[in-house]
Order: sequence, then structure tokens, then C-alpha cells
Amino acid sequence: MNILIKHIKQLIAIDNYPVDRRAGRQMSEMNVLVDAFLYIEHGKIAAFGTMRDFKSEMIKEHGAIKEIDATGRVVMPTFVDAHTHIVFASTREEEFVMRIKGMGYEEIAQKGGGILNSSRRLESMGEDELFHGALERLWEVIKQGTGAIEIKSGYGLTVKDELKMLRVIQRLKEVSPIPIRANFLGAHAIPLAYKENRKGYIDLIIEEMLPRIAEHQLADYCDVFCDKGFFTPEETDTILNAAIKHGLKPKIHGNELGYTGGVQVAVKNHALSVDHLEYCGAEEIECLRNSTTIPMALPGCSFFLGIPFAPVRKLIDAGLPVCLASDYNPGSSPSGRMGFVLSLACARMKLTPEEAIHATTINGAAALQMSATHGSIAIGKTGSVIITKPIPSFHFIPYNFGSDCIEEVIINGAIAKRRI
Ligand code: NIG
Ligand code: FE
Repeated sequence: MNILIKHIKQLIAIDNYPVDRRAGRQMSEMNVLVDAFLYIEHGKIAAFGTMRDFKSEMIKEHGAIKEIDATGRVVMPTFVDAHTHIVFASTREEEFVMRIKGMGYEEIAQKGGGILNSSRRLESMGEDELFHGALERLWEVIKQGTGAIEIKSGYGLTVKDELKMLRVIQRLKEVSPIPIRANFLGAHAIPLAYKENRKGYIDLIIEEMLPRIAEHQLADYCDVFCDKGFFTPEETDTILNAAIKHGLKPKIHGNELGYTGGVQVAVKNHALSVDHLEYCGAEEIECLRNSTTIPMALPGCSFFLGIPFAPVRKLIDAGLPVCLASDYNPGSSPSGRMGFVLSLACARMKLTPEEAIHATTINGAAALQMSATHGSIAIGKTGSVIITKPIPSFHFIPYNFGSDCIEEVIINGAIAKRRI
């Protein structure tokens, strides 16, 4: 099926020449076509322009063409959510209530809650049930406009259960209409059995988990939670070195709970991204300026835990390519709604809608090495777009928080419909 979308009020996030990412001031530049058309052929963007320039000869293919009238509507590329943990056994609303009553996230974690709580629950859940729960969430976010996604392990924390999580991600890849990148996060927390033997757990990651994951090609990336109470920069460095030898690209959870050296160890290892950054000062910014590592912020986590928002305004003003993602997980951000990420970015981090949209599309794609196919409207890219309801302009998307203003999500040139 080919799709022709006509009379689009604003077609946004257009790249007239290929860009891998948008940094600094480029993030505020938005290419917009008013009263436009977009033609998707065999799943790829084949043509776009203004209605005035539209000619029926542009449609070379004479097979079935679905025409959509987008009068009053905005069309934009689907979101690229470059940081999620959507494979988990159950939600953790009881910890949410504990926090409302005054307990901190770290305190709950130290008492065996948090990641270890999710890990206990995942241990007793079979692979099929885990897969179906994650598939539900995958479809939930596709309907909310996500067109490419990264998914982490990290609630297994044993060889058996980390592999189980990664196999679930592999199965999701097989049935998903959107591309998925798998991220191995065995170093998410020290499991209870290794509380007095941190080195033993790190050895387990390096000697048993990584070789098996590499052998079965179960992950694209390797992540470490380098933070207060979790893994030190030295431990992170050791794990990432081993991961790189197995062909996995590094990513980092860092500086969520303090100035913990996560940025420095990420840059040292040429990590694709360093994620969280709630604690990110002049030193960290300078370090990022001399690297290709993408700074990624997770405003849903700051909102939900009541911790500081990452200083992304400063990061962009320093010329950096900021990415924003949902961090969808049961503990610190139980939402994968990228529309809400946009609203938080604008209302709480002082990004303009233009910057926030680039941070959740092309810069998300860069953080997943997908810029050639995703993240913007460009000829040859995957035909995955969001068609909004009738709205005044694209600025209304983050303004109208709580609603995604989405009428239709198109994935690979077809209206997103769940088949399994
Ligand atoms: O990105 N910070 C570390 N990991 C997750 C939270 C995991 C959890 O609480 O379950 C995060 O926020
Ligand atoms: Fe996370």
C-alpha cells in the first residue's frame, strides 16, 4: 500500500540534506512546509512539497494508493524513543505511595525495593508472559507516536534472567513493525546474592553474561548504571571495556543521583549516549563538548521522582545535540508517552517546541544510529509519521499536555494496526 497525504497544514521536521543529529542552534531551526503533501511509496518517503507544486506525475507507482486529507493537521516524523525498560514483570505503584509519604528513591532501593524488587518479580515470571506484557507496552507507545525504540534488560541480574529478558527483546524485534535496539544492562544493580562480593558480580557479567550475549547476538549495546549506590566509574570502565571487545557499543545511565563521573567514563569509552544527567555541571558540559557522546535527558523520570531536571538548556546553549527519551520503566518513569516528554521539555526545561521535537526525533535516531532511516522527513527515509488532529500549529503539540493530539500513526507507509 502507498499513501498520499494531502493538504497538510504544516509538514514539519524536514531535512533537505541528510543530517545525523542537530546540535546547539540547529535544534531551534525547523523546516516547515505549509499546505503540503507527503507521498510514501513501498514504505519509504518518495516525495513531498507544497500542494501548489503537487503534480500527479509525481506518483510513479500505479498500484493501490490510499489518499488522506490532512486539512488542518500537522504531519511530523514519529518519535524515536532511545531509552526504555519496557520488559518488566509488574508495576511498582506501592513504591510510588512510599515516596509520596516521604521515602526517597535511593532509600527504597537500599531496602531491597526498586530495581531489586523488579528483579525478584521477573525471576518468577515465564518468558511468554513477560513477552506478552512487553508487547502490550510496545503497542501502547506505537499508538502514542513512537516509531523506533531502544529496550534494555537489567531486571534479570542473573545469567538466566538477563538472557531471558534479552530473548524477549529478540522476540519483540521479530514481531514489531518498528525497529528495536536491544541494550544489555546487567550492570543495573548489584543483586542481593553479591551484596558482599561486588567483584564477583562484575566478573559474572564479564565472564558469563557478555560472551553468551555476544555469541547469540542478543544485544546491540551495553549499558551500566554508573551512579551513587550502584556502579563506580572504575567498575563501569571495566565492564564497558569487556563489552566493546564483544562488539557491543557502550551507553550509560549516569549522573542521576549525583556528580558521579558517569559523563567522564562515557566519553572516555566513546559511548553513544550518556543518559539522565540530572547532575551535570560545567565540567561535565565541557567534557561532552569534546566528544561525540550524545547527552540524553529523561524528563519523565525527573517529573515522577521529583528530582532536578537535567540542565538541557545549558547543554544546547553549549552547542550540544541533546536527545530526550521516555525512560519507560516501572520505578522511575511509568510512562512511554513521548508527547508528555515534549511538554515537560518545553514547560520545565525551557526548550522551544522546535528544540524539543528535534530532541525526540532526529537526535533520538542519532543515539540509536538510525538517522539514515528515521528521525526526520527526508526522501528515502522510512515512511513513519504522525498525523495530528486538527490543531492551530505544531506549537500546540507540547502546549496541549496530557493529550497527544494524534489522529493517526503511520508506520512504514501503513496505518499502525496491531495484528498479534
Ligand atoms: O533509568 N536509573 C536507573 N534505572 C532506571 C530505573 C529503574 C527502576 O527504578 O526500575 C532509570 O530510571
Ligand atoms: Fe533508564
